Amino acid sequence: MAQVELEDVSYALGTTEILRNVSLTIAEGECLALLGPSGCGKTTTLRCIAGFVVPTHGNVRIGGKSVVTLRPNRRNVGLVFQDYALFPHMSVRQNIAYGLERRKVGKAELAKRVDEMVAITHLDGLEERRPDQLSGGQRQRVALARALVIEPDVLLLDEPLGALDRLLRQQMQVELKRIQRDLGITTVFVTHDQEEALSLSDRIAVMFDGRIVETGSPEQLYHTPQQRGVMSFLGTSNIWQAKVVAADGPYLELSSGDIRVRVAAETQLPKGAAAQVGIRPEHIRISAEPPEGAVNIVAGRIETTVYKGAHVEIYVGTATGFEFLARQPAVSTESGGAARVGDPVYLSFEPENVLLFPSGD
Ligand SMILES: Nc1ncnc2c1ncn2[C@@H]1O[C@H](COP(=O)(O)OP(=O)(O)OP(=O)(O)O)[C@@H](O)[C@H]1O
Ligand SMILES: [Mg+2]
Repeated sequence: MAQVELEDVSYALGTTEILRNVSLTIAEGECLALLGPSGCGKTTTLRCIAGFVVPTHGNVRIGGKSVVTLRPNRRNVGLVFQDYALFPHMSVRQNIAYGLERRKVGKAELAKRVDEMVAITHLDGLEERRPDQLSGGQRQRVALARALVIEPDVLLLDEPLGALDRLLRQQMQVELKRIQRDLGITTVFVTHDQEEALSLSDRIAVMFDGRIVETGSPEQLYHTPQQRGVMSFLGTSNIWQAKVVAADGPYLELSSGDIRVRVAAETQLPKGAAAQVGIRPEHIRISAEPPEGAVNIVAGRIETTVYKGAHVEIYVGTATGFEFLARQPAVSTESGGAARVGDPVYLSFEPENVLLFPSGD
């Protein structure tokens, strides 16, 4: 266990900047998700921590000590990489023991630690199988056991669940979280899957184009993102451009076409200022009549409904052509609540749930 720090790390290949001034501290025992679109620099950041990439500028510290001049095998880092490869001709047990053998750990100690890892990753009974005799999820757990058995200070996981189907992926997410918590190991977890980042990590760092643009707890980044790009990347959202038309105490009123909204604003903007307005689909209510007492009401017509099992996604178009996405719990047609395409409806939402991003973001 150790704290990991990236301090103003930049990395360029020729004239191509791949990482730009990345600063990030991962606390001892913390699980941080590095989230961002393909090609934004997530794997490169992990490779800097592991030592396979030497930053062009900046510093990397593990447990308070600079490691930039240390080779990967001197950093005591456990890795499960995107294209993790098990040794195909070795048994599960031999795969897991490999790192300990290389470190010349004694026989008795080695057996004890491999047994422990087999138990932690629920691989009991599979020790003598070869990788091609395992399921995808089992192989994934061998890769994890192999990384953990050396008792690394830091665990780096690069899309370790990428190859798995949805169900297995969810099961492995639960297991990974359990193992990470039980061992209390400092972990950096790379994913481009926002749900995985939200459910697995203590904290998320969002990366776009080689930069960390925002960090925070999953709840913070989902409910109160500071940037428009973060809101649209994490989950689904409705975001539109509007102008401030009135300022009223802690509230601002913004207008755009036929949409006028009242927002509880922390930052006051002057009248006439441009801003982006955002609302999550689950914060929008849909009703057949204008709801009494609601502050923000938008009239529209149902354009599409998409059944998702537990909920229904309802797309509603306004007169001036803006399309809202609202999410409602699925109700059975017998209860009479089903939304039909073409129905005129009213959308309403609380000022406190509307997010405001000054333009230029
Ligand atoms: N050896 C290399 N030579 C040239 N460009 C590279 C090299 N390695 C990475 N890149 C570029 O650096 C950028 C970041 O790559 P990186 O692998 O870190 O992205 P990523 O966020 O992990 O993406 P993904 O989600 O697709 O795995 C990409 O644009 C990639 O093309
Ligand atoms: Mg990658």
